[in-house]
Amino acid sequence: MPEPDPQLFDKIVNLSKRRGFVFQSAEIYGGFRSTYDYGPLGVLLLRNVKDAWWRSMVQMRHDVVGLDASVLSPPQIWQASGHLANFSDPLVDCTNCNARHRLDKLDDPDQCPTCGTSGAFTEARDFNLMFKTQAGPVADTAADVYLRPETAQGMFINFANVLNTSRKKPPFGIAQIGKSFRNEITPGNFVFRTREFEQMEMEFFVPPEESTQWYEYWCQARMDWYLDLGMPSDELRLRPHDDDELSHYSSGTSDVEFMFPWGWDELEGIANRGDYDLTQHANASGEKLDYFDQASGERYTPHVIEPAAGATRTAMAFLMAAYDEETVNDDTRTVLRLDHRLAPYKVAVLPLSKKDTLTPTAHEVFDLVKGRWMADYDETQSIGKRYARQDEIGTPFCVTVDFETLDDRAVTVRERDSREQDRVSLDQLEGYLAERLG
Ligand code: GAP
Repeated sequence: MPEPDPQLFDKIVNLSKRRGFVFQSAEIYGGFRSTYDYGPLGVLLLRNVKDAWWRSMVQMRHDVVGLDASVLSPPQIWQASGHLANFSDPLVDCTNCNARHRLDKLDDPDQCPTCGTSGAFTEARDFNLMFKTQAGPVADTAADVYLRPETAQGMFINFANVLNTSRKKPPFGIAQIGKSFRNEITPGNFVFRTREFEQMEMEFFVPPEESTQWYEYWCQARMDWYLDLGMPSDELRLRPHDDDELSHYSSGTSDVEFMFPWGWDELEGIANRGDYDLTQHANASGEKLDYFDQASGERYTPHVIEPAAGATRTAMAFLMAAYDEETVNDDTRTVLRLDHRLAPYKVAVLPLSKKDTLTPTAHEVFDLVKGRWMADYDETQSIGKRYARQDEIGTPFCVTVDFETLDDRAVTVRERDSREQDRVSLDQLEGYLAERLG
């Protein structure tokens, strides 16, 4: 059984900043708490995580289509979904030190963990987690709107649009990747819990009698996705929710959990939402949100199985799972053993020296690979330091152009995990890399 590794947390936060994965937002103004910007490498990693999800959930399936719904949304949606009434956390204030806490997260519901005083809490108040703003130029006449706290409702309110235009029939799914916003009371653990984050969600609409079977199918399929992308099986588990943990809409949920540096925690929830959402929106809007099965002559409201993952959280988990340190010749080598599909750069082109004589050939090599793979070009520092830098950011292959290249039209290709090197002629380089990178 793997143990939580608290030191790994600091190493990942440090690496993220030092190498340009994740920066504190508004840093030049002192930093905007629990908000993050994805740097040159982070944006590539995040995009690769989202692409891998989209490929598996949409591209490789005949029964799932995509959607990109708006973030701004009217209150009717959240009234019907239950978020206005239920999407809240119970808050208490300490009358001694003014600290604010989530009642349900306190070890002792009577004692303030900040100042240690007992019996000084105010009555618990429900704090709604949705960000509210106004649409229109004049505040007092403008309409209230909300930033969506999940992407899921976009799929429910477009159910009929998609059904009528895509010629799909249950079982079929609608998938979406996008930003969501929650006014979290206890954001923290770096990008694990933030107020602005990205989700990857899919609503799979099924005949009611097939819901259990599809719930089990998606639990397994989602576990397989993480494993296929290189997450170690002993750092991943599927944990069914207890009854008292279930969301207001769910009749069954399992979490995919990862062994984070602080212990097991959630990456994704797979929920059996029943017909709750379509029924709620049909009742509130007066529109029919059901399906008429011509074969059986039956009309029914599909049930929904929802695999809902966090893109930003998952990207961080892949970083943590890939991080490795090994001793090589008495030195510690840090290497991100990321699956090739997730690595920010697939190839780095490294001219051995900055001398002008190598530059044209090194550019030629960069031009050869850049159309097919995201590539880095680096001519600073010694070759050893550049290899170390590429290992630390997870680049699977370094291609070195040296003085011999000018004579033999061949380059040295070094593989990240084994550090093995091959001499490959330039006219075979693309094939060599394609065989290994796909
Ligand atoms: N539509 C269902 C839904 O939104 P959720 O469990 O609240 O379910 C799904 O969210 C996933 O979104 C979580 O498993 C997590 O990965 C991610 N997520 C939720 N809140 C987050 C936050 N504040 N920061 C980062 N990721 C978050």
